[in-house]
Amino acid sequence: MTVNHVGLRVSDLAVSVRFYEALGFRETMALDVPDVPADRLLQIEAPVGLRAVYLTSGPFVLELLGFSAHPAPPVDRAMTDTGLTHLSLGVDDIERAKSLVREHGGRVLTDTDLGVAVMVRDPDGQLIELLEAARRPVTPPDRTALEVIGTQRACRSFLPDGVPDADLAALIEAASHAPSAENSQPWVFVVVDDADVRAAVDELTRSLWRRQGRPHSEKTLSPSFFDEVDQFLDTGYGGAPCLVVVCGDRRDATPRELLAASVFPATQNLLLAASALGYGSSMTTLAPLARDDLASILGLPDTLVPFAVVPIGRSSRPLGPPRRRPVEEIAHRNRFGVPFR
Ligand SMILES: Cc1cc2nc3c(=O)[nH]c(=O)nc-3n(C[C@H](O)[C@H](O)[C@H](O)COP(=O)(O)O)c2cc1C
Repeated sequence: MTVNHVGLRVSDLAVSVRFYEALGFRETMALDVPDVPADRLLQIEAPVGLRAVYLTSGPFVLELLGFSAHPAPPVDRAMTDTGLTHLSLGVDDIERAKSLVREHGGRVLTDTDLGVAVMVRDPDGQLIELLEAARRPVTPPDRTALEVIGTQRACRSFLPDGVPDADLAALIEAASHAPSAENSQPWVFVVVDDADVRAAVDELTRSLWRRQGRPHSEKTLSPSFFDEVDQFLDTGYGGAPCLVVVCGDRRDATPRELLAASVFPATQNLLLAASALGYGSSMTTLAPLARDDLASILGLPDTLVPFAVVPIGRSSRPLGPPRRRPVEEIAHRNRFGVPFR
């Protein structure tokens, strides 16, 4: 047996869709169900006017049901009422989730607030438990690829907990599944976890940052973004327990640009795989600018070109939602300037 979805009757589909989207669900499909045979299956007198909107969060599917021919007022069902009681949602930032609830027509039951958990109601009175993600009693199953991609962000502050070799191997294997020109797979990964090697890479990065990066970024980044990057690069990659240096092999004299075009997709796979396993990571390209110094620290042969240094570890804080330009702004149809949609 497999679970298809959990159905939730709502009084205003548009309001409820916006509410659940604000809490991280994604709309995947909407169906206008014909009155026949809906009337028979659901035992509702025609006309039924059923519209069903499906939202997903990981493998969980929530079916919001609107019956336009059968309006129903919101009901504050209690936890002790018979039947399905509540949804429990794991959230990284409970304060932010509470404000999203308020902004989108829900209510926060402030009397229930335990700091790490609080009960809220959706616009129709449905009880929802917001629980700090780290406290959830059941480990969530794998997130979908789109969820991992949609939440991946640069992490610049890490806990000291190490990354087991089995996880590092899984990340590197995922990186190696990237496309490459002529399937040449020209990537080489150097995992840095030795204290002396690490100190040398940190020092090289710090001096490059102070001499070149900092004066430039001070002018281009917002003050808070600059402070975050400054702290990150000045303190040895935000205390990340290990670094992965991603290199390209020029053994067949591949031009640098073409080599980069093969190595960066592998680097992106590494970032995404780290995210999928619950690690923070970030792409950095500063230390590779001093190719010879980095090569000498790592003992790289002449054919190897370092392209990225990726710190990996557990993030010390929630990363929050990424900010990205909307599809309307970046996509065109057939000719530049013609909106894609
Ligand atoms: C080519 C490249 C170089 C980058 N170099 C650095 C870096 O030196 N230091 C840093 O903190 N982040 C670096 N980043 C990460 C970007 O700042 C980050 O991806 C971008 O700001 C998007 O932010 P987000 O991941 O938080 O959404 C680099 C990203 C790319 C693609």
